[in-house]
Amino acid sequence: MTGPRPHTLLSLGQIDPRDAVTAEIAIHELSDTQAKAELARLAETLARANTAYHAADRPDISDAEYDALKRRNADIEARFPDLKRTDSPSEQVGAAPAEGFGKVAHSVAMLSLANAFDDEDVADFDGRVRKYLGLPSDAPLAYTAEPKIDGLSLSLRYQGGKLVQAATRGDGTTGENVTENARTIADIPHELIDAPEVLEVRGEVYMSHPDFEALNVRQQDAGQKTFANPRNAAAGSLRQLDAQITRARPLRFFAYAWGTLSEPLAQTQHAAITRLADLGFQTNPLTAICDGPAEMVAHYRAIEQQRAQLGYDIDGVVYKVDDLTLQSRLGFRSTTPRWAIAHKFPAELAWTRLEAIDIQVGRTGALSPVARLTPVTVGGVVVSNATLHNEDYIAGRDNKGGEIRDGKDIRVGDWVQVYRAGDVIPKVADVDLSKRPEQSVPFEMPTQCPDCQSDAVREPGDAVRRCTGGLICPAQAVEKLKHLVSRAAFDIDGLGAKQVEQFYTDGWIAEPADIFELRTRYGTGMQQLKNREGWGEKSATNLFDAIDERRKIALGRVIFALGIRHVGEAAANLLANHYGTWDAFSAAMRTAETGNAAWEELTDIDGVGAVMAGSLVTTFNQQAEVDSIDRLAAHLDIQDAVRPDTSGSPVAGKTVVFTGTLEKMTRAEAKARAETLGAKVSGSVSAKTDILVAGPGAGSKAKKAAELGIETLDEDGWLDLISAS
Ligand code: IVH
Repeated sequence: MTGPRPHTLLSLGQIDPRDAVTAEIAIHELSDTQAKAELARLAETLARANTAYHAADRPDISDAEYDALKRRNADIEARFPDLKRTDSPSEQVGAAPAEGFGKVAHSVAMLSLANAFDDEDVADFDGRVRKYLGLPSDAPLAYTAEPKIDGLSLSLRYQGGKLVQAATRGDGTTGENVTENARTIADIPHELIDAPEVLEVRGEVYMSHPDFEALNVRQQDAGQKTFANPRNAAAGSLRQLDAQITRARPLRFFAYAWGTLSEPLAQTQHAAITRLADLGFQTNPLTAICDGPAEMVAHYRAIEQQRAQLGYDIDGVVYKVDDLTLQSRLGFRSTTPRWAIAHKFPAELAWTRLEAIDIQVGRTGALSPVARLTPVTVGGVVVSNATLHNEDYIAGRDNKGGEIRDGKDIRVGDWVQVYRAGDVIPKVADVDLSKRPEQSVPFEMPTQCPDCQSDAVREPGDAVRRCTGGLICPAQAVEKLKHLVSRAAFDIDGLGAKQVEQFYTDGWIAEPADIFELRTRYGTGMQQLKNREGWGEKSATNLFDAIDERRKIALGRVIFALGIRHVGEAAANLLANHYGTWDAFSAAMRTAETGNAAWEELTDIDGVGAVMAGSLVTTFNQQAEVDSIDRLAAHLDIQDAVRPDTSGSPVAGKTVVFTGTLEKMTRAEAKARAETLGAKVSGSVSAKTDILVAGPGAGSKAKKAAELGIETLDEDGWLDLISAS
């Protein structure tokens, strides 16, 4: 087929997997009727392909075509969940050629929780909530407190009372379609009576201790792999392509939250959970209502006491503001709600021998000392490596020169205490000097990079020593590439750390752009991927297709993927939302320098400090880096950031300044609400200001606004204006 594909129904026999990008654009343009018709055609074509492949053993389409059709089907279903067919091809798990699960776009993101580690953090959380809401410390404010289940979260969508879809959390925005598997879990009802028309129930899939132990015995007897802990067992069991395997695994489910709803469940968190229990879900019996931090912490201690007898793993207690109206006022930060926090249990400990200290070089050149340990079980997981942070930590000093571990240093041969908390990388926490071997010597951090031998220097104020080799350092290059393909970045199916390392070692990829040239370079010709050990025709094609699929990519992911120091996932999304497009972002980074307008704009973004800004600007000022970034961008179709829909918002695109005392909401809340409605909130009045909201006590800003002829509203006027949207 030549020329652009028309944005109408595709002729199915002609789908070219390389056109997946074009096909996805078409999905956004499909009407309900077209989507329905296409789902019907896809179901039929895929069923025919399945029969040809399995029953007749005579495939009528290529694997790549089959995968493209399945992907398109899943994408249409994700966009039109109501139109999903009862005989949907996504439900035919296990049908070869399986390329994994279909994807489900969560209509309400599945977020994670911020953590509290001690009583003070809990009091701070309460303080932050009150401050945001403008509630005095003596005003009543109820929270729920419930165990934090150590499993994996699942979102169940019910329509008309019927379970129509189950999806894992995935990256929080897009999860995996595990509907068939979820249906095999006894705790998950298939039908609900008297439920809202649309109800997404969220909760945790987990495995009990006795079931976990019995499963491992069965696995061992059958010569199959055993699981390190119940959470891994639950995740491995739910994410099975063959639902029959899931059925044989004893999974359970606790409901504790919800996503999309056609009508509210209740007025409070507690009543909503009771409603879910009435609908037939298992809810946790240790859920309580608490009147403030003292009661919350008391409930935490009570749960901690019972932890060992519960029969399933929990890793803390979750507190949530009970009043749902307050929850919605509090809203979310980029990845966590403001109205909830997880109070984690303390880490688990064990003692073992430190056999060696190795140095790893990270993507930003940081030299990290890693402890190689005599393997030891810590909280049910065998640990043989642990982090030692940096040279000060090993020497027994904190970053301000104060003592840690009473100043005891850590040496090879020492008897050390290892601790781990949940998913966190195990750490070496303490050392037993009475068992120190006589001939031991203090550890010395190398002053040259162990990989490229460039000088490794420690800048004043930096806790770590860094390799100065930059792009010539193979360790940095390979770590950057691994970061680039990681889950929150390009997340390329079939291209993990191991493959990146092999391709890098063999000179197939040296920089990010090379990944997108793999098909051209190694799809045909003298050296071909399919001829490499461990690869074949199908896996090679699958990888090339998976790479092509990621050419179209969200702006936030690209910014994160660059692996710039201090720019994590949340920050990358902030930057994406602010600049909107790749062109705007990269132009701003190239022109920003301390003090100019682009720099001011960058550092004005809530959540971007001078350190992060400096790191971004430094990167975009290095010619070799910029060239490499440009080469990568040339292969991509970077999607503009999807800003919240502010059409109809009377303040979208306007610059607003708040001044004086606000009486009906706090500054933070006012700012967050204005931003949600598409306004830009600034701290100072200038010619660019569109609206000044002035409460009592407004001073120089109100005067300046009057001089500049800027529209000025009082708090009620502002609330009237935004309530119109
Ligand atoms: S509430 C908006 N409640 O913890 C956040 N989460 O670290 C809604 N989890 O991804 C989550 N037990 O998988 C909530 N009782 C509980 C939980 C719980 C376990 C998990 C959940 C979430 C993770 C966050």
